[in-house]
Amino acid sequence: MPELTIDIEVLRYRPETDDEPSYQTYTVPYQDDWSVLDALNHIKDHMDGSISYRWSCHMAVCGSCGMMIDDVPHLSCKTFLRDYYPNKVKLDPLANFPIERDLVVNIEGFLEKLESVKPYLIHAPDDPLNETEYLETPAELIRFKQYTMCINCLLCYSACPEFALDPDFTGPAALTLAHRYNVDARDQGTAERTRIMNTEKGVWPCMFVGACSEVCPKQVDPAAAVQQIKVASVFDWYKSLLPFQDGE
Ligand code: FES
Repeated sequence: MPELTIDIEVLRYRPETDDEPSYQTYTVPYQDDWSVLDALNHIKDHMDGSISYRWSCHMAVCGSCGMMIDDVPHLSCKTFLRDYYPNKVKLDPLANFPIERDLVVNIEGFLEKLESVKPYLIHAPDDPLNETEYLETPAELIRFKQYTMCINCLLCYSACPEFALDPDFTGPAALTLAHRYNVDARDQGTAERTRIMNTEKGVWPCMFVGACSEVCPKQVDPAAAVQQIKVASVFDWYKSLLPFQDGE
C-alpha cells in the first residue's frame, strides 16, 4: 500500500535573504497520531534544516509552539494532522506580531507588558511573605486558580481584534495574569496594578469580543478576567466618591 502523505505549506521568511515572506510546501508522511509539530520536526530533521519555529515541551505546557494553523491560532503540539487530512495544512507565524524568521515572532513587546503589570505576589515591606505561612482556603483558591493555567502562548493576542488594531494594548494574557494576583488573598499589590490597568492601553479598549477565550488552549477565559477587572475598577471609583472610605 502506498505511503499516505500530506502537504504542509509553511510561510518562510529569512530576513538576511528575503525581501518579503513566501510559502514553501513540503510533502510529509501522514500518520494519524502526528501533531503539526511532529510534521515540522520531520521536515527539520529529514527535509530542510533551515526551517525555524519554536517548541520545547511537546505537551501543551511551555506555550512556545503557537502558530496560525489554517489561519487560526493553535498550539502546534496539540493540533493533529488527522483534523486536516487529506487537505493541506497552512502554517503562518502568530498573527499580530512582527515576524523574526519563518514561524518565529518577536515577543519583546509582550514581555514588557507582562513585566509592567507585576505578575507576582506583592506584600508590604513590613509584612514580608517569607516570615510566616499564608494559608488559602479552597474558596479563595477557586477565585484565581483558573488564571494560573495561562502558559503565555500568546494565541489570545493573535485572536484579539483590539491588539490587531493597537499593538500597545496591554492585551489578554498580561491583564489576566495581573487579575490572577489581584484576586489572590495573599497579595497587596492591587493598587499598583490598577494604576497600569486603568490607563487607555489597559482594560478599557477591550470590547469583550471573546475571541481570546475561544482560542485559549488551557480554558483560562481571559475575556472574563478583563471584564472582572473593569467591574472592580468601577466599584473602586464609585467607592472613592463616597464621603467615608473603608476604615474611617
Ligand atoms: S511545545 Fe510546549 S506548548 Fe507546545
